[in-house]
Amino acid sequence: MNGDLRIDRLRWWHLPAVAAMEAAIFGPEAWSEGLLWTELSAGHDYRAVFDGGTVAGYAGTAYNEAEAWLNNIAVDAAYRRRGVARMLMDDLIERARAGGAKSVLLEVAVDNGPAQRLYDAYGFYGIGVRKRYYQHTGTDAAVMRMDL
Ligand SMILES: CC(C)(COP(=O)(O)OP(=O)(O)OC[C@H]1O[C@@H](n2cnc3c(N)ncnc32)[C@H](O)[C@@H]1OP(=O)(O)O)[C@@H](O)C(=O)NCCC(=O)NCCS
Repeated sequence: MNGDLRIDRLRWWHLPAVAAMEAAIFGPEAWSEGLLWTELSAGHDYRAVFDGGTVAGYAGTAYNEAEAWLNNIAVDAAYRRRGVARMLMDDLIERARAGGAKSVLLEVAVDNGPAQRLYDAYGFYGIGVRKRYYQHTGTDAAVMRMDL
């Protein structure tokens, strides 16, 4: 189904497209191009699914000793429900395991049903709540963990 899609490292020249996608998806909570630059400069592991030269989706992971933190994951609305997020999750789990991580952690808005179903499918479980984590909406975030 995803024969034309490939996964690879996200590079700096993709950041304008990623920032535009962030703005379209997350609105006032979007990460700016500058912040995304900082993420890449910090050496965090950013991966993207490409359809030719187009970024269909991306995910960024930061490593802290034996923990991998999924900082963000998003799929362009035009590419949803085609397994792009699964490609990103499978890839990051494989890379986290290979790097010696023992768990993957993330935050997700408590009202984000699609993302929660994605994480449920991978066996993530809730370990806490960050109250009013998302500043513009005041929405709480669930902190979730998956054991590798
Ligand atoms: C959440 C998101 C990343 C999923 O991306 P996607 O590429 O459409 O997901 P996939 O096609 O790989 O779906 C994988 C599984 O996730 C779940 N899922 C994904 N979207 C769903 C939806 N809209 N409703 C219910 N379940 C959903 C399903 O279990 C799905 O498996 P299935 O298609 O076999 O039923 C995408 O909807 C998105 O970018 N949302 C906006 C950004 C966001 O919320 N990011 C997460 C921040 S924590």
